[in-house]
Amino acid sequence: MTFRFVTINDHTQLLSFWKENYFVNELDELGPLKSFLEKNLDLSLLAEDKGEVVGTVLGPFDGRRGYIQKLVVRKDYRKQGLGKQLLEKVIKNLRSAGALYIPINVNAELFTFYEKCGFKVTEQIPMNNTYSTYKK
Ligand SMILES: CC(C)(COP(=O)(O)OP(=O)(O)OC[C@H]1O[C@@H](n2cnc3c(N)ncnc32)[C@H](O)[C@@H]1OP(=O)(O)O)[C@@H](O)C(=O)NCCC(=O)NCCS
Repeated sequence: MTFRFVTINDHTQLLSFWKENYFVNELDELGPLKSFLEKNLDLSLLAEDKGEVVGTVLGPFDGRRGYIQKLVVRKDYRKQGLGKQLLEKVIKNLRSAGALYIPINVNAELFTFYEKCGFKVTEQIPMNNTYSTYKK
């Protein structure tokens, strides 16, 4: 298993990896991903095994806070510690960039995973304002 930073040259592979193992939307198209990677240099990671993508994590940093996105492990590689490893690595990158706070909103089924990775429940109520035109 090897870990390296995501580059825009990975786009085609990433799109099929995310479609197969999670979901995609308009933000995963070439232009938006390129712009995202340019704004967030050397933060997002990809795990490869036998030349294939088996895990990803994007780590946006807004200059104050860090975020976790597209933490995805290939279905047949799950429950072997890879998700936790990717999370630890991206958190290290975000902390080095200066992030003091890394908030996440998680679905109930991922609560145990994130708790095992050191995340704590806060008293804040998650809210958002969502807009997507993407058709699956
Ligand atoms: C969430 C995800 C990344 C976890 O990856 P993973 O490689 O299976 O996780 P790990 O093996 O590193 O798990 C770490 C610990 O959490 C536990 N865990 C992992 N997934 C879990 C789940 N769905 N429910 C309960 N516990 C879970 C593991 O058993 C392990 O526990 P242990 O340390 O006691 O052995 C993977 O399930 C995935 O890709 N899901 C789809 C995409 C997604 O929802 N991403 C998160 C939102 S960005």
